[in-house]
Amino acid sequence: MAKKLCIGVLTSGGDCPGLNAAIRGVVKAAWSMGEARVIGIADGFRGLIEGRAREIDPEEASGLLTRGGTILGASREKPFALRDDEGLSDSQVGLDKPEMIKANYRSLGLDCLVTLGGNGTNTTAARLQREGLDVIGLPKTIDNDIWGTDLSFGFHSAVDIATEAIDRLHSTALSHNRVMVIELMGHKAGWLTLYAGIAGGGDVIIIPELPYDPVAIARHLERRASEGKRFSIVAVAEGAISKAEHKMDKKERKAARAEMAYPSAGYRVAAEIADATGMETRVTVLGYLQRGGVPSALDRVLSTSFGMAAAELAFSRSFGRMVAWRGNEIDSVSLEKVAGKTKRVPADHKFIEVARHMGTCFGDED
Ligand code: F6P
Repeated sequence: MAKKLCIGVLTSGGDCPGLNAAIRGVVKAAWSMGEARVIGIADGFRGLIEGRAREIDPEEASGLLTRGGTILGASREKPFALRDDEGLSDSQVGLDKPEMIKANYRSLGLDCLVTLGGNGTNTTAARLQREGLDVIGLPKTIDNDIWGTDLSFGFHSAVDIATEAIDRLHSTALSHNRVMVIELMGHKAGWLTLYAGIAGGGDVIIIPELPYDPVAIARHLERRASEGKRFSIVAVAEGAISKAEHKMDKKERKAARAEMAYPSAGYRVAAEIADATGMETRVTVLGYLQRGGVPSALDRVLSTSFGMAAAELAFSRSFGRMVAWRGNEIDSVSLEKVAGKTKRVPADHKFIEVARHMGTCFGDED
């Protein structure tokens, strides 16, 4: 009897809604296409380094569609970090993590490895492919900042959660005549803040791609107040950067921020607003609520479809590719092309124009 195709699956980087749905998609599709075996690897690349893995059968995959988190566990393990950062001394060669990964890949009998992850994961996946493994990437992140795909799963669930939070801030902002600053995740990209900001009717949206001037924000808020608006909602991406900071190099920026000592971007922007306007300002940092819980309907469809697409790539032995969503279709793109890149919001993105026409201020112009 021919050996069944053996597919390894791991979830790497920060978790997000839809990971379990995608695992279910891989397992069910792999069985439906040819009774392949699926091996779940614990805690991302860390589990593969340590050889911690177990088989997942379709029965276990049942019921995963709506479950938050990842049944496999995740980690931010970067197996190439030691080679890249310090080089390997002779005594460390036996501890070379990529070599340990290759050895465990072989001893588990894997024919390919499906990695569910974001930018760091895809970069690692491309390197492992270059070093002789067969890898397929699935794009996941609430940040939506993966090059080569219009969407990553997790993003729309986070947008829904952030939008509901903004909706809820409106009533309390109105009651108290306050400026409500809400800080959203997104790493160095503003997708989540842009989408949730528009969906929640944010009066100010601050994203890393458009450095802001606190004075421009203050003028906008004062204008609103003079028009009789009793409150304002300011959506700030965690990676927001002011125009003054934008002119600094990384080291200067770090020093300037250390001196200001604000815990994060939302607090910084809120203090700048309060200083410039004297308005009563409050901060909400939504944090990990954006990553927890059940996936949205759209993410369930996307994760399931991405899982099936990974199984398809595995059976057709099309390795070194990342599944992608492009122009309303499932596609795939070379991992080599994805590696090392970040998809940020272009300054001329249509949604920025849309928001400006709704009277939203991005803090970049008066
Ligand atoms: O990449 C997803 C993300 O949630 C980012 O939005 C955020 O900057 C980061 O992860 C937080 O990472 P950690 O889970 O390591 O705190």
